[in-house]
Parts: sequence; structure tokens; C-alpha cells
Amino acid sequence: MLNIDRRTFLAMSAALCASPAWSAQSGGDGLRVRAARNHRLYGTSVDSRNLKADPRFAQAVATEAGILVAESETKRKAMEPAKGQYYFGGTDAILNFAHSNTQLMRGHTMVWHEANPAWLEAELPVSKDERLLTDYIAKVAGRYKGQFQSWDVVNEVIEPKDGHPLGLRTNSIWYEAFGESYIETAFHAAREADPKTPLFYNETNLEGDDAWFEPRRTATLKLIERLLARNVPLQGFGMQSHLKAFRSKYSEAVISKFLDEIAAFGLPILITEFDVADIRGPADPAQRDTAVADLTRMFLDVAFSKKAVLGCITWGLTDKYSWLSLTPAYKWSDGQLSRGLPLDGDFNRKPMWTAMASCFDKSQA
Ligand code: XIL
Repeated sequence: MLNIDRRTFLAMSAALCASPAWSAQSGGDGLRVRAARNHRLYGTSVDSRNLKADPRFAQAVATEAGILVAESETKRKAMEPAKGQYYFGGTDAILNFAHSNTQLMRGHTMVWHEANPAWLEAELPVSKDERLLTDYIAKVAGRYKGQFQSWDVVNEVIEPKDGHPLGLRTNSIWYEAFGESYIETAFHAAREADPKTPLFYNETNLEGDDAWFEPRRTATLKLIERLLARNVPLQGFGMQSHLKAFRSKYSEAVISKFLDEIAAFGLPILITEFDVADIRGPADPAQRDTAVADLTRMFLDVAFSKKAVLGCITWGLTDKYSWLSLTPAYKWSDGQLSRGLPLDGDFNRKPMWTAMASCFDKSQA
């Protein structure tokens, strides 16, 4: 049961590389074209303020990306900042940009413990009212019905360190109020409001070869198995893939096995938040760029050897706007930009871009 109809997907990809408008700019075809030629997707997360305020960024996004996702603006904190008061301006702006540039968009994310507005964090633990989950999903899934390529219904629900026997994240208001059942409640509510858009489960920290990754992979696979056994409308898997070039170990065999295990459930896979942290790397940026590009090539070659992998979205396009430069665990203390995305801070293509382009060129979907 491959839930996204592969033929529809291929037709969409063909449309994405059809127009010459994205070719031969700043030194050749953008990644969207390189990906689409081999029936895969490339895209990036964006923030609507940057698209609006920075024309060079907007141009680079139009040239390189075939699919967009909001970095923050489709999260609940942004969409329902006060109870019952919705703000859709950010998401709408990105959707409009995507339409003007023949791009797809995906929704990220309906339920994430880190994106709850403060009022909800205060209210849910007291009321335990399921409508605080389902009404919101009905509202946003209904509003964007049929408009997204896929929707992340739940995000980051596994955390073996919390001590749950099945590895579930228990340190979240959702688990505390409802136990595991909130996950399937969310999927059913999304399906009811938007019957057609493929519904994804998105998860983080699955690709490494250090000991702590293995229980995360096991718990993720077990969760998917339980959801599918209960006929939960889960139709795709998002593998975030925030890699760390100088902090984690990686093995092709481990990544390959995990992707095969997900694919064996019949689920399509999207690499949803790819980037490569360069913190703790050598002082020379050129050396870091080489290491980032090498790891990118290794990872994407394995990923694109799988038919189930639909494509790769990077978590940002340019180092100018990268969460890696702002997040304490990844940022450089001297204020320099991180170098974990395809374009540098001045929109030049880096070795990581070249690695991605060649992986897309080689890939056969
Ligand atoms: C991050 C954004 O990049 C930040 O701008 C925001 O403040 C917090 O969220 N996993 C996810 C993403 O699923 O939504 C996160 O994005 C990065 C980690």
C-alpha cells in the first residue's frame, strides 16, 4: 500500500522541471530541476518575512526549490497564538509564493510539543479536553484542504530517554493528557478534515551510528507498526535528518537498513529537514565545507538508492538564514555563520550544493 500514488507524484515532478525559467541561472539548473529530472523532489524550509524582505533570497528559493515548507509559521504557536484566535498570514504568504513559482508546499506540523502556545500549555493539563487537539486540527486541515503535498500530523513523538517502555515521549502535554492515543486521534481528525492530502509522521535523530540512536529507531518502527495495525491513516514518513559532521558517527549500512525497514511498511519517505551541523569542525571553512559535502553525498546516495524516498528538503537554503547559526547546540560562539546548507551566506553554491546536485543526477526513482 504505497499511499501517495506514484504516478501522480511523477507527474508533479515532471511539471516542476518543465519551465526553462529556472534553468541556466547563476551557473546552471537549480536543484529543483536536477531532482525532478530523476523524479525526485528538492525543497527548502522558508520564512515568509525573508521571502518578502530579501529579493536575492526569494530569487534563490524560486531557482532552487520545487517544494516549500514553513520553518515556523505553520506551527500552532504561530497559527493559534491566543485561544480561538488564528493567524494564517505567514502560511498563506508562503503558499502564494509557491503558487507563483510552480512549487509545491507541505504542512509542518499540527502537533509538536515544542510549538505549543503558552495558553495551551496552561490549559490542557488541567482540562484534558480532547477538543483542544481535534478542533485545532479540524480548523487548520480544513483551511488548507487539498493544498499541501503532504502534512506532518505529529512531530517528534519518540524519546526513549523519558523511560517509557515503548520509547514514547512522555514529557509533553499531549502524552500527559491522553497517553499514546493522542497520536491516532490526531491522524483521524486530520483525515476527517482533509480526506486526500497524504498524512505524515515526522521524526528526528534516527540516522546516526552512536549507541543512543538505535533505541530511537526501534521505538519509531514499533510505533509505526502499532499505528498501521490499528488502521490509523498514516501515509508517509518524514525523516528529519539533521546531521552533525563533527559530532556523530554514520554508517551507510545503518541508514540503508532503517530506510528499508520503513519502506517495508509500504510508506513513502521524505527527507524533511536535511542539514549538516559543522560545529566542532576545523577552523578553516574550506575543510568544513568538504566534510559537510562528503557526508551529504554519503547520506543522499544511500537515501536515493531507495525507491521509497521521494526526495530531500533542506532546513533552510542559505547559511544566511539557518537555524544552525541560532541554536545553542550548533552555533559558533564567535558569531560566524554555520555552513550546513547548500548556499553560503552570500547565496553562492557551496560544495554541499554540488554534492546534492550530483546525488540527484545519479538517482533513479
Ligand atoms: C525549528 C526552527 O528552525 C526554528 O526557527 C524554530 O524556532 C524552532 O523550530 N525539528 C523540527 C523543526 O521539526 O520544526 C525545527 O525547526 C527544528 C527541529
